[in-house]
Amino acid sequence: MSCRVIVLLGPPGAGKGTQAKRLANKLDYAHVSTGDILRDAVRRDTELGKKVGQIMAAGELVPDQLMSQVVQESLSRQQSRGVILDGFPRTVNQADYLDQVLGNKKICAVNIEVEEEQLVKRLTGRRSCSGCGRIYNVFFSPPGREGICDQCGSPLIQRPDDRDEVVRERLRVYRNQTEPVIRYYQQQEAYSSLDGSREIDSVFGDLYRIVTNQACDQASPHP
Ligand code: AP5
Repeated sequence: MSCRVIVLLGPPGAGKGTQAKRLANKLDYAHVSTGDILRDAVRRDTELGKKVGQIMAAGELVPDQLMSQVVQESLSRQQSRGVILDGFPRTVNQADYLDQVLGNKKICAVNIEVEEEQLVKRLTGRRSCSGCGRIYNVFFSPPGREGICDQCGSPLIQRPDDRDEVVRERLRVYRNQTEPVIRYYQQQEAYSSLDGSREIDSVFGDLYRIVTNQACDQASPHP
């Protein structure tokens, strides 16, 4: 049996979202991506979206208090037997907050490690289709026709925070504010790291082995 609360750590572009989706499917867990929640709020121009749009576009972190509310609301809605957190916690304050919310439930933290130059290429090269959402990378997996989706012919778009200067800022913020979270979990029992620079399938194989070999919290069926 696998761990019930899985925290995926790693720098921007490490593959947290990619791996979290696959893992959530395989384990039938909920996938809570704070980045996706915030981007959706910006798209729908909600109160939350109005507060966070500029912060995200600049590559900075949304204030802890606001993020804690977002995560608390999302966790309270989950009915699945486990949850994968992707993008939270990103500060030591957020990690403390998560411990409080979860009480004595055990957290398995897995850090996906990738070197910085690889991250920059993954992020600055990323384009997504405005029609069907398919992801391309101009360096590694370009479309047949520049800027156009092979699948549906719609234009490709770039995430505002994937522009080169914003990517560099996200990585700086990560080093300053999020790397301490790794040390926070290293001091706890269930911390692991893996090499995220390999093929997506190989990374997933390691991740799956790690989370299914961790002792799990039997206390509650819900996270
Ligand atoms: P968020 O959306 O969480 O962005 P991020 O973690 O900075 O970056 P990504 O989502 O791009 O990286 P990822 O590790 O998920 O990689 P992915 O799988 O996408 O956050 C965005 C913003 O929201 C933040 O900057 C902040 O402003 C705000 N925010 C969110 N949470 C917050 C919080 N807790 N506190 C405060 N603010 C918060 O992969 C990246 C690319 O690489 C993809 O194109 C993918 O196809 C490719 N790829 C993945 N794996 C591989 C592989 N193994 N080999 C080759 N390519 C790969």
